[in-house]
Amino acid sequence: MERKKIITLDRAHIRRKESFPFVMGDANGSFIYDVNGKQYLDFMAGLYGCVAVGWKEKSVVSAMSEQMNQFNFAPDRCPSEICSKLAKAITTLTPNNLSVCLRATSGSEANDLVIKAVRASSTKSGFVAMRDAYHGQTIGSLSLGDKNSVKDRIGPLMPGVKRVEFPYCYRCKWSTNCSMQCLNQVSYVLEKGKSAALILEPVQGVGAVVPPKQYMKQLRSICSENNVYLVFDEVITGFGRMGELFATNFFNVKPDLMVLGKGLSSGYAPISSVVVSKKVSKDLGGSGNTTTFGWNPICAAAAYSNIKFLVKNKLPQKAKKSGKFFKKRIAEIIENKYVGEIRGEGLIFGIELVKNKLTKKPSADIANKIYSECLKKGLFLATDGRFENTLMITPPLIITKDELDKGISIIEDVLKKF
Ligand SMILES: Cc1ncc(COP(=O)(O)O)c(C=O)c1O
Repeated sequence: MERKKIITLDRAHIRRKESFPFVMGDANGSFIYDVNGKQYLDFMAGLYGCVAVGWKEKSVVSAMSEQMNQFNFAPDRCPSEICSKLAKAITTLTPNNLSVCLRATSGSEANDLVIKAVRASSTKSGFVAMRDAYHGQTIGSLSLGDKNSVKDRIGPLMPGVKRVEFPYCYRCKWSTNCSMQCLNQVSYVLEKGKSAALILEPVQGVGAVVPPKQYMKQLRSICSENNVYLVFDEVITGFGRMGELFATNFFNVKPDLMVLGKGLSSGYAPISSVVVSKKVSKDLGGSGNTTTFGWNPICAAAAYSNIKFLVKNKLPQKAKKSGKFFKKRIAEIIENKYVGEIRGEGLIFGIELVKNKLTKKPSADIANKIYSECLKKGLFLATDGRFENTLMITPPLIITKDELDKGISIIEDVLKKF
């Protein structure tokens, strides 16, 4: 079908916030191709790190095809070899307190499952969630999230969610001399005694904000002291993004529940999971996780082969190395008068644009212009952040040094114009 016709049909019949200027035609490795053949270097891995093993990875494609030729569906209560293998693979990699997988199809659905599992397993029902958090678009996950632009006109949302500051150190509202006041706020809220769980993204997708390691350790202690479940939403950070298999390895902190999505199947199929303890699973009860599509066998085959590929090819370690190269190579652009901060770990980075380095006044306008210019030059990235002023970079974990270098050169060239 002609490019123009696809766009016309899309605009007429599909609800989207906005459309990218390219139309998916093909993709391979770290590249996406428009239907007219234009090549884009994919600095987003599809969407916030989703396509971790890269596009068109043969072992994943054939595992899915083999499963499809065997059986394409399994009834909810029917065990299958592929799902058992997947659950074993996941729980072998997650912290040893987490040994049972709840099944779902998306990150949002998995976060709704978190709400159910936590409430069923606690005498309390409230949640503490972070400022700027994103946990998805179902009513439950929206309630945990804090992106007002996606909440407009949808309420009332789930009651009982208290919001605390995320350790966004560049814009700390307390001081430049860190005394972790943000943790005092958490303690204060939890001591009120109504919270069953605290949920956070170990690295916030909105702006690629990475907390200090010490913060996470203390957060764990505060939750334990107050008998509150700590939930890591590892939809973005899971499966190697931070240069470790999971954020839990990076921070050396064990959560009580862990949410997996995106990188679980590298986007080859819709599948997600909440990994919980035996106790939480038992408390949820028999029908608490009935699902028609959750862990469909083809999706499970995609996830299982994806994990095998990731581990065999040491992609988390590769991401760590690539991240070091990226940090070193991009360091000079901090001199640009509009670059306020460059932050990240492994292969998740944010470049925050400001109008003025001293006042830190955010500039969504410049971020948007850079994003558009990069696209014109064949580099696909995104803008996000509390003020929509951060360039987001989350490439496939298989990206080569040369490809990273090429992308950074494009960003540098574009920045020179400002
Ligand atoms: C941290 C986090 N949690 C949950 C979600 C929602 O996942 P999904 O879009 O698969 O529903 C996202 C999506 O970007 C995410 O980044």
